Amino acid sequence: MNEDAIVSLETLVHGRRSVRGFRPDPVPDALIRRAFALAQQAPSNCNTQPWIVHVVSGDVAERMRAALDADAAAGRRPEPDFPFTGAYRDLYRDRQIDSAKALFAALGITRDDQAGRQASMRRNYRFFDAPHAAFLFLPEPFGPREAADCGMFAQTLMLALTALGVDSCAQGALGHYAATVRDVLGVPDGHRLLFGIAFGWQDADHPANAARVGRASLDEAIVFHA
Ligand SMILES: Cc1cc2nc3c(=O)[nH]c(=O)nc-3n(C[C@H](O)[C@H](O)[C@H](O)COP(=O)(O)O)c2cc1C
Repeated sequence: MNEDAIVSLETLVHGRRSVRGFRPDPVPDALIRRAFALAQQAPSNCNTQPWIVHVVSGDVAERMRAALDADAAAGRRPEPDFPFTGAYRDLYRDRQIDSAKALFAALGITRDDQAGRQASMRRNYRFFDAPHAAFLFLPEPFGPREAADCGMFAQTLMLALTALGVDSCAQGALGHYAATVRDVLGVPDGHRLLFGIAFGWQDADHPANAARVGRASLDEAIVFHA
């Protein structure tokens, strides 16, 4: 066993967490490319590497932020390429509620504060003021199997960013207005948007970044057979 490697990995995995308030400073291009080059090493079924990833920075990031925020401001109904499959139930609902509670508590949003909750949701569409965002597309006719490959890419990317000292947040919300994202990027209809990842350096003073969530124990999630 390589003790140094496992300690590094533990540090990275525990060091990554969703950041929802960023400083505007852009991340140098060399650092960004280094993280994406590592993400490219993610495993995929038959090495198909089915992800197509668009990274926005600078003016394009601002145009994207404005376009998504305008959709939300106009009250447009989200139309993700991969529709919501239904409300979370039972323990999944409990976990969803716990994570929302942690965020709202950090932001000082009370139970009855509908306007506060909506404003918090709206921040998603501005990708929490991050200077960069990656949008992960899946070309047609790919489905759940290939989406799993994209998950491998996403976690590899976020761990690589963490190792480089860069913060991130995966955002399903960045897939809510898929047609708008395609329009801003000039992406063809056949490329379906899975989700986005905001990244940059955290604003340590932003209250959202004080939110912490835990995980189910091993016994609750993993069944070992022998
Ligand atoms: C595919 C995916 C989509 C997500 N979408 C959102 C989102 O739209 N908005 C958000 O604030 N967090 C989003 N998250 C972040 C999760 O809420 C977060 O990963 C989870 O609560 C665990 O917290 P942690 O990342 O800090 O460990 C998403 C995470 C993943 C993996």
